[in-house]
Amino acid sequence: MPSLLILNGPNLNLLGQREPEVYGTTTLAEIEERCTVTAQSLGYDAECLQSNHEGVLVDAIQGAQGQHGGIILNAGAYTHTSVALRDAVAGVAVPAIELHLSNTFAREEFRHQSYLSAVSLGLICGFGVAGYDLAIRAMVDHLAR
Ligand code: DQA
Repeated sequence: MPSLLILNGPNLNLLGQREPEVYGTTTLAEIEERCTVTAQSLGYDAECLQSNHEGVLVDAIQGAQGQHGGIILNAGAYTHTSVALRDAVAGVAVPAIELHLSNTFAREEFRHQSYLSAVSLGLICGFGVAGYDLAIRAMVDHLAR
């Protein structure tokens, strides 16, 4: 089965307990399980990885080449700071969808800037956990074209 990489960045391991008024109460384990079910219903495996470390995320993006058809990337705060992640996404021939649980544009101004949007296939933000389903569906649709 072809596969998708579901990549979550810093502090997303705290989902469920972290600022629930912003991010909801669903845990990362529950999100990953849901991603796996959604992907498999569409004929894809989902490999899920979370790291708090920028270099690990860069390695995972590079490693997606030849392994995964697409990347769903919630880079957390690195979205707003990391040229290295941007260059990794731009440097591999694997499409990525940028994802955020919260509507980053309705929040602090420093969250309005993303290094990833310009090199991503598209951006999904503000739909909470449902965003992961939407991103998987959008990626599968894109890969079928
Ligand atoms: C986030 C938004 C980021 O601004 C923040 O730093 C996160 C989570 C989101 O999913 O809404 O860690 O990516």
